[in-house]
Amino acid sequence: MSAAQKPLRLGILLSGRGSNFLAIAENIRSGRLSGAEIAVVIANVAEAPGLAAASEMGFETELFVSKGRPRAEHDADVIAALKKRNVDLVILAGYMRLLSPRFIAAFPNRILNIHPSLLPAFPGLDAQTQAFEYGVKLAGCTVHFVDEHLDHGAIILQRAIEVAESDDAHSLAERILVEEHIAYSEAIARVASGEFELRGRRYIKK
Ligand code: GAR
Repeated sequence: MSAAQKPLRLGILLSGRGSNFLAIAENIRSGRLSGAEIAVVIANVAEAPGLAAASEMGFETELFVSKGRPRAEHDADVIAALKKRNVDLVILAGYMRLLSPRFIAAFPNRILNIHPSLLPAFPGLDAQTQAFEYGVKLAGCTVHFVDEHLDHGAIILQRAIEVAESDDAHSLAERILVEEHIAYSEAIARVASGEFELRGRRYIKK
C-alpha cells in the first residue's frame, strides 16, 4: 500500500470466541498488518465472547440475532450495517452461518473466511476433529474467498502442520489455531495489496 492509499475497511463477522478477530486487531495495532482497519464487528449470537471483547476494546459493534429469522432478512440487516460503514472487505471469523446469494453479490470477491482444515478436506463443523479421526498426517487451515457454498471459494492461502503421535483432537485444534492467527492477517494483507488475480478458482499473485 502506498502512503496515499486509504486503509482497507474491514467488517468482522463472528459467532463465538473471537480469537481470530483478536489476532487481526492485535496485528493491526502492532503494525504487523498494515493497510487495513476494523470498521465494525458484527455478531449473530448475543452471548458471543468476541462481541463483548470488541465493544470493551472500543470497536463499533452490532448484534443481529439470526436464530429464528429468515436468512435473507437477517442478511439484509448485516449488509446495511456494513455498507453504512463503507466496509471494503468482509472477514468471517468463526461466523457459523451460510451467507445468502444477495450477501455474496453485495461484496463480490470481497468476503474472506477461515476454516480449520486443508480444504477441500473436512468442510463443515468440527473440522479439526474430523481430520484427527480420519487419521491425516498433515492438518492446517485455509483462508478463502466466500461463495454460496460452505467452506468452498477460491483459496488465498493455507498453512499446514504435521499431526503428532501425541496429539488428540483438542491439542490439534489448538495448534491449528496458532496457524490461523498468522494466516488470516497474511491473507488480508495479500488482498489489501490488490496484487493478485483470480483465474477460475486459482488465486494468482501478480
Ligand atoms: C476457528 O477455528 C475458525 O477456523 C472456525 O471457527 C473457529 C472460530 O474461532 N471456523 C469454521 O469452522 C468455519 N467453517 P474464533 O472465534 O476463536 O476465531
